[in-house]
Order: sequence, then structure tokens, then C-alpha cells
Amino acid sequence: MSLASGHEAHDLEGDEFERLTRNFPPYRTGLVRLSPGGWVFPKQYRKYADHLYNFEVRPTDVFLVTYPKVGTTWTQEILWTMIFNPDLDNPKQEVSLEKRSPFLDVDMLFPAETTPETEEFMKPALEEFKKLCPGKDPKDGMYWQIGAACRDRPRILKSHLPLSLLPPSLVDVAKVVYVIRNPADVITSYCHHCSLFTEMKFTGTVEEFAELFLNDDVVYSPYWLHVKEAWEKRSHPNMHILRFEDMKSDVTKELRKLNDFLGTKLNEKQLENVKKHTTFDAMKNRTTIFDFDITEKSPFVDPEVLKKDGGFFRQGTTGDGKKKLSPEMLKRLKEWCGKRFDFGLTFD
Ligand code: A3P
Repeated sequence: MSLASGHEAHDLEGDEFERLTRNFPPYRTGLVRLSPGGWVFPKQYRKYADHLYNFEVRPTDVFLVTYPKVGTTWTQEILWTMIFNPDLDNPKQEVSLEKRSPFLDVDMLFPAETTPETEEFMKPALEEFKKLCPGKDPKDGMYWQIGAACRDRPRILKSHLPLSLLPPSLVDVAKVVYVIRNPADVITSYCHHCSLFTEMKFTGTVEEFAELFLNDDVVYSPYWLHVKEAWEKRSHPNMHILRFEDMKSDVTKELRKLNDFLGTKLNEKQLENVKKHTTFDAMKNRTTIFDFDITEKSPFVDPEVLKKDGGFFRQGTTGDGKKKLSPEMLKRLKEWCGKRFDFGLTFD
């Protein structure tokens, strides 16, 4: 099947399907791989692909484009706070981050067969959808339609899709912020995420997850190509690339650069406000970040994993990959990075 982006989406079958879904029970309802690129998605992606590719972009938009687990939520809160809440007095800060900054491609992540849990999960979005999109059909995808109907100026929109699957005019029309993180830490963070959330129920080990990641077999992979597509646009005046590690080592410096890029003209006091409001602990302790419960009581979270390894806000540090992955896997990862990121990026 051809998509508006020019890609073909093939159902994964046979040994390949078995390999990708062995430790991911919910994905056994179907995965697709795109060509070219090799992008892996749940099969529902097909339903939303053209809507996402043809999404109407406005010159006032700020898009946050990332591969999962690179610090997206942190950056989302930074962007929203810089633009709408630099004095920390905007009452809308109590509204979930999902509503303040719509995540366009979520619909495809829900299993094809609706369960009572997924219905419960979607309830807040459905209410928002009915409010913002009267007369529209939620089956066409609620989240991108919520994004399209968002009345904020600018709209701060988030997507985990690579640039080649987003509107081709995106970088020419809107401002784009892209985040890169060390692949070793992406692996351990993404593995934890997939084990924690019941929508993915990953049952394997971190080494097995790393194996899938290196084979470009995880949903939203290939990571290196995701990064490469953004990196190639790094000199475009509408593109701003952040690195998680730089944010960790000197967030004020990164906030200043963002201030210039966004044209927000924040003073030092306001930048300090943003910094304080978006620390790991501040965000972890705010219960309003997500519409859905992420505590051990939540049906979307495995309480055992949460107790043992932490929740969504797990560590927020650099270097976890080096601690969790075996020396053999780290050696392979180093070689992989050397080959895959040969377009000019290195990782410590
Ligand atoms: P860890 O699992 O390594 O702790 P995303 O938002 O893209 O899913 O990324 C999640 C990762 O960012 C998690 O990494 C999470 O803990 C970390 N994170 C979230 N908020 C953060 C913050 N304010 N400061 C630093 N790291 C943060």
C-alpha cells in the first residue's frame, strides 16, 4: 500500500514478525515496516499516516520532533513554560501537558483491539476531542485532530515520527526542535518504558531489547536514520537541535539558545523560573503532567516494574546504558554508532 509520503507499508510476517513480537504480546495484532527507511510501526499507523503527512502546518507552530525516550517530555514542558508560563503564573499550567502540547501520533500506539483499559486511557482525549472537534470522527485519529484544532498561538505540537513522515513543508514553515540522546541511554530508558507500560508489555531483558534496537526492529526505529534526517537540516534557521547530555550538563546555556531560537525574549529571572519548573524532581512531583494515572494503582502501569525500576520519571540522568548493558553489547553498540552515525555525530 502506498502512502502519501511515497512509502510502501508492508505487513511484517514470518520469522521477522516472530522476532519483533516475541517479547511484545500486544504487537502480535500486527506491525508494519515502511520502505524506504525500514520504519517500524503498529499496523494502525496505516490509518493515520496520510493525515499526519498532510497535517496543515502554520508559520506560528513550534514542533517538537523526537525519537522516543530522549527527553521529549522534559523539552515539551520547557517549551510550554518558556512560551506561555515564564512567570509561573499561568493557570493553564495545571492542565495536563498532553492537552497543552498535543502528541499527534498517539492513536497508532493503542492495540488494534480496544480493551476496557485502552478505553479508560482514551477517555480524557475523547472528551477533549468532542470539545475541540465537533462533527469530526474520532476513528480518523483523535490526537492529530486535537492538534489541528488547538487554538494556542503558537501551537506546541509533539511527534515521534521522523521528518520524512511529517509534512514536507514542516521545517520551511514552522519552528522545529529536535532532541538527540546517547543511544545506550535511549536503549535502557526505552526498554524500561516498554516494560512499565501495559500497552507494550515488553517481557524480555535489556540485552534482548538492545538486540532489537541495533537491528532497527523497535517501534519508531531506525533511531540513527531518525536522527540523520534532522541532522541534515541542522543549518536551517527553523531547526534547533538539542542534546539531552548538554541539557543535563548546563540547562541554562541550552535555555538561552532556545530563547534566541524561539524569539521568546525571556530575561534571566524568567529563564531561572523555567529551569526550576522543569527540573526532574519538579516534574516528577507534579501530578498533572499526564491525563492518565502513572502511579502503581494505574491499570496502564506494571506495579512490579514500577517498584523495582521506577516509573515514567525514572532517573533523568546520563550514563545508565553503560551501567546496564554488558561489555559485549557496549562494544557492539560502539561499532554500530561508528557506522550508523558516520554523518558527523559521536557519543561518549
Ligand atoms: P530515564 O528513563 O533515563 O530516566 P521521553 O519524555 O522522551 O519519553 O524521555 C523520558 C526520559 O527523560 C526518561 O529518562 C525520563 O526520566 C527523562 N526525563 C523526564 N523529565 C526529565 C527532566 N525534567 N529532567 C531530566 N530528565 C527527564
